Parts: sequence; C-alpha cells; structure tokens
Amino acid sequence: MKVFEPIEIKGMKLKNRIGLPPLLNMPAGEEGHINDLTVRWFEERAKGGTGLIMTGTINPRPPAPSGGAGAGLLGMRGLTLHDDEYIPGFAKIAEAVHAHGAKLGIQIGLGGPMAGQGPSPPPYPDERHATDDLFYVILGFRVPVRELSIEELEQIEDDIAAAAARAKAAGLDCVELHCGHGGATLHSSFISPYYNKRTDKYGGDWEGRLRLPVETIQKMRKAVGKDYPILVRISADHFLGKWGVTLEDTTKIIVPALEKAGVDCFDVTQGDMIRSNEGIQIPLYYPRGCFIHLAAAVKQVTRVPVIGVGRIVDLDMAEKFLQEGKADIIFMGRQLTSDPETPKKYLEGRPEDIRHCIGCLAGCGRPCAINYDIQDEPIPLTTAEKPKKVLVIGGGVGGMEAARIAALRGHKVTLMEKDSALGGMVAALALTPLTAEFGNIVDYLATQMRKLKVEVRVCKEVTVADVEELKPDVVILAAGSSLILPEETRDKPGVMNHIESLKRKREIGHKVVIWGLVAAELALSLAEEGKDVILMGRAGEDTLARDYNMTRKWYVFRKLTDVNVPRETPEAARVSNPEVLYNINVEDITAGEIRIVDNEGAKRVLPYDTLIISRERAVNDSLFDALQGKAAEVYKIGDCSQVGEIKDAVWSANEVARKI
Ligand SMILES: Cc1cc2nc3c(=O)[nH]c(=O)nc-3n(C[C@H](O)[C@H](O)[C@H](O)COP(=O)(O)O)c2cc1C
Repeated sequence: MKVFEPIEIKGMKLKNRIGLPPLLNMPAGEEGHINDLTVRWFEERAKGGTGLIMTGTINPRPPAPSGGAGAGLLGMRGLTLHDDEYIPGFAKIAEAVHAHGAKLGIQIGLGGPMAGQGPSPPPYPDERHATDDLFYVILGFRVPVRELSIEELEQIEDDIAAAAARAKAAGLDCVELHCGHGGATLHSSFISPYYNKRTDKYGGDWEGRLRLPVETIQKMRKAVGKDYPILVRISADHFLGKWGVTLEDTTKIIVPALEKAGVDCFDVTQGDMIRSNEGIQIPLYYPRGCFIHLAAAVKQVTRVPVIGVGRIVDLDMAEKFLQEGKADIIFMGRQLTSDPETPKKYLEGRPEDIRHCIGCLAGCGRPCAINYDIQDEPIPLTTAEKPKKVLVIGGGVGGMEAARIAALRGHKVTLMEKDSALGGMVAALALTPLTAEFGNIVDYLATQMRKLKVEVRVCKEVTVADVEELKPDVVILAAGSSLILPEETRDKPGVMNHIESLKRKREIGHKVVIWGLVAAELALSLAEEGKDVILMGRAGEDTLARDYNMTRKWYVFRKLTDVNVPRETPEAARVSNPEVLYNINVEDITAGEIRIVDNEGAKRVLPYDTLIISRERAVNDSLFDALQGKAAEVYKIGDCSQVGEIKDAVWSANEVARKI
C-alpha cells in the first residue's frame, strides 16, 4: 500500500506517509517547558506507527499576553523555543519519537489578529457581519488588534530563524513555518488581503503581503543550512470569497513565491480561524476528506511534496487520495488522538479495532471524548487481581465501554440491553445525518463486545429477580436517561420525543415543530431534507447550541441565526428554514396546532404535522436502590448517574471499570 511506502522530504526519510499535524493542545509545563507528560504525549503517537509527527505551534518569542509581539497562537502560552535553555526538552521528545522510527518536526508560528497583533487594525472588510467571528460567538468579545512595526517584524523573522536553528540543534528532523489559518497567525494574516491593509513594504500588493513569509523562510534557511527540510503550512483557500486568499491566489502566486523562497514541502490546510474556522476545527457535519481537492490543486503547481489534511479518519481513504495523486502525505489530526495506534492496528490486520474519531471537537487531544486514556493522569488499565462476575445493565456507549474495560481486565462480563440493538441514545443520534459520525463509537464498541467475548443479551429488560438469579459480584447500571414529555403533549397525535423521531423517521410529516433548542442539529438536518421546520424553546438566544464545542456551536449558530458567512451582497440573505423562536411559552396544544406566546406577549399559532420534543432528560436509575445488597458492588454510570455527554459516559465507565 502506498500509505505505508517511505517518502523523502529534502533528505528526511519518512517510513510511511501518515503524519500527525500540529495540534496546539499538547501538554506543556510551566513557562512553556517540556515535561514528562509532553514527552509521553508524542511518544504515544510514534509508538502507534505514525511516520511524521509535528508539534502544535511553538512560540519563537518569550511568551507575552495578547497584543504583545510574543503572543503565541490565540495568545496562549503553550510550548516555546525562544531560548537555548528549552533545547534539552525538545531533544527528549526527539529521542522518544526516534526510538519508534518516526520523525519529529516543530511548527513555529505567532498569533495574528486573533491574538491582538497583526498587519493592520480593524475594520476589516464586511464588518457588517463581523459578529459571526469565532471569538465573538464563543466568547462574546473581540481582542483589539495592534499594528506591528517594521522593526518588530524584522525581529520576529530573526526570532523564528533562531528557533528553527534550536530545533535542529535539539535533533528534530524538520521545521514548519505556520502561514495558515488567516487571522489566527501572523504570517497568514500578512498574506491575506482581508487583514493586510498596509502601505509600507510589508503590504500593498502580493509581493508586499508575501514579504514577511518569504523573508522569514530565507532567514530560516540561513539558520538551518541548505540540507535541512523546511515545511510551510498554508491555507490554500481562506473561504472569504473575494476578500481573502482564494485557491487561485494560492496556486498562481503564493505557492510559486514560497517555493522560490526555499520551501521543501507544502502542508495544505484551509480556512481562517476567525471567520471560517470550519476548515480548521472541522466539525462532524463535513464529509470525511472534504478538503483534499485543495492539496490536489497545490500538487499541480509544485515539484515539492504536498501534505493533505482534513477529517481523514480512515487509512483506506488516505490510500485512495495517495493513489489518485491528490497528496504525497496524509495528516490525520484528531484520528491519531482518538486512536494513536491507527497505523499499527491497520498494519496488524485488525482495522476493526481502530477507534474512529467522531468529529465532536470535545477536547481533541486532552481530553478526547471517546478515548479515556487521552488525558494527563488516567487510571491505569491493569489486570484484575481477582476475576469477578460482572453484570452491565444497559448497552449504550457507557455500558459497552464499561463492559469492554472490565473484560480487558479479565472479568467475566454479561451485558443486558432492553432494546433490540446496542448503542442507546448515541446510536439513535447517529441516525441524524449531521451527526452520523457518532455511529463510529457505537460500531467500535459493539465489535469489541464480540471480540472480547462479552455475553450480550438484547431485548432483555433486567429485573431484580434476574440479578438474584445471576448472582453477579458486580453490577454496573448503565440504563441511560429518557426524554420527558410535557404533560400537555401526552396523547396528542403526531407527538414524538427526539429519539423516537430518529427511529421512526418515515412518520415525520412535512411541517415539523421541534420544542427544545438543544435539538438544533436535528432541526438543521430535517430542514436540509426539505421539511418546514420551526425550532422553539423557552430560553433565549444565548442557549442555542450552548453545549456544543467550538466550531460545532459556531456552525449551528451561523446556520440558525442572522449572523452569517461573509456575503458578497446584502441581498444574499439567509434562508429562514429552520425558523428559530426564543423565549416561548406554550399555551395550548390541540391536534395539529400549538398556541404559543413569547416574553413580550405576542401570540402565534403554529400548525404542525409532527411535534418533536427534546427537553429535559430524566435518569433511568430506578433499579439502583432496589439492587443494593444483591451484589457486593453496585455502581451507576453515564446518563443514569448524571445526564451528560458522550465523554461523560465514557469517563464514568472507565472510572468504575478500571477499579473493580
Ligand atoms: C484542538 C486542535 C488544535 C489545533 N492546533 C493547531 C496548531 O497548533 N497549528 C495548526 O497549524 N493547526 C492546528 N489545528 C488544525 C490541525 O492541525 C488539523 O489541520 C485539523 O485538526 C484538521 O485535521 P483532522 O480533521 O485530521 O483533525 C488544530 C486543530 C484542533 C482540532
């Protein structure tokens, strides 16, 4: 397979074509130092078989708060390499990574407008819609941006070159200059006509806007010598239409200029973190591998190797892209987080053991929602001192994870599920087209049940008598939670709860009212299927998609509210389906009609074919008290202990199953 064939970048020999892209949330010690956790984090990925490993963005300057010329990416501190005293730390990572046959590179970059420093202060184009910027939506504020002087820029170029030389001295195999992600980084924002309005030599035309990256690469080259690989990360399309960098700008102007400056490999990403973050922290709503055409376009215009990235979670897809000549190397970010052993398991002929990323963006490195071990101090997974008879009640994600861990530890495990299939609420949510990737964790766990010989009984509602008969040593109650139907909806035709609506999709009519702002993804999915959808809730706008992470929240918010991606004309307005109604009280429900009133007293009658309820959930823990004394140990985990997210179910399962 091509994906496991070696490849060379300027003399750096990679054993395969799989790489870990930069991920900022690697562990960092005090003052940006490397500690044991940092080393272990990188070593895990090397052990798993990845050929090339990049660090997240490393600050080449003394860390400074937002707006200072040393502000790291997002103004965060993270790891730094601004002084020789940091070299031994990086040498330790290099040694650990090399021991497993992988290569290590650092990404060097500085924060841009997002961290309060940039080519020019705002206003930027299309300020009418500036409230859709990521920070505004997530945090509710924006950082003031300071224009850096020519002296500061020259100093930054020198500092980056010095950091590159330190990386080489530490025994690292390559360095990458971060020139991607628009407003997130200094170099990308200088390239972008959206942020760079300077009239001095660092702005004006393409030559001026490319001066900072070109001069930086030239200084890096001097610092590391002619035989050392320098990679550059670019956003091939900033997704800002005519205001930002387009793919045509990239292929015609940017790639040739950077190649001429001495770049040995293009790491092709996309998007602008402030305005179009969907290219960077890509939510599960986007199809796997959806941005590979950008790497393919860059490959057409350069002779040096090209890296493609973006929601590539399976090696068959990586192989296909390599075979098609769309890229030379494939970066897998969150996949190598959710399962650092992805390449190893594939090579060992057990792809079914790979835990595929679900794209939820809940952590992505520390922690990962579906992999409990991705954290600083997990409870170790040890063989149990005394094998016990364990009964798990409930076959959702939490129950299956508890069964998996208990079986791995040597316990004899039986799992009983009242439905006919495993997966519980997560499997149902995976029936929503936008969140279909949730199915990855259900499939993985169901497969592990078979492989670990967990005795699974479906269609089995457990009673106290069953437990008395089975006589387990340990009972783990993982019976989940149930959506509560408000009194006034009971026995009304066309009413379903959220989970039922996913299982009985064919019965959903054309006019749909969804009661519960939490069901934003369902509302969008149904609207995309052509239904007429109204999403309504008692709370205000600030609660919309409140519990979603970063770009997921941002995507949903953008789609459902009047803030939007930059529009070329004011007429290009949002289509208001689904319509979202806030601060709503329901006055009355009759067959096919809901009478509502908002906080200001305005009344409306909403006709519906189907009314979907997605509001409070109640824990299904009624067995818990009844089971006390029926086994030596009785626990409850997941939703049935406290209503939460996928991560909470996986976490609580491990916290119990690793200790019994
Ligand atoms: C939590 C997180 C941190 C990231 N940090 C960086 C970073 O420091 N530098 C960078 O260039 N890209 C960063 N990225 C983007 C990733 O390198 C990668 O391009 C992105 O995750 C898409 O790849 P994937 O779908 O395989 O994860 C980050 C992404 C995530 C989700």
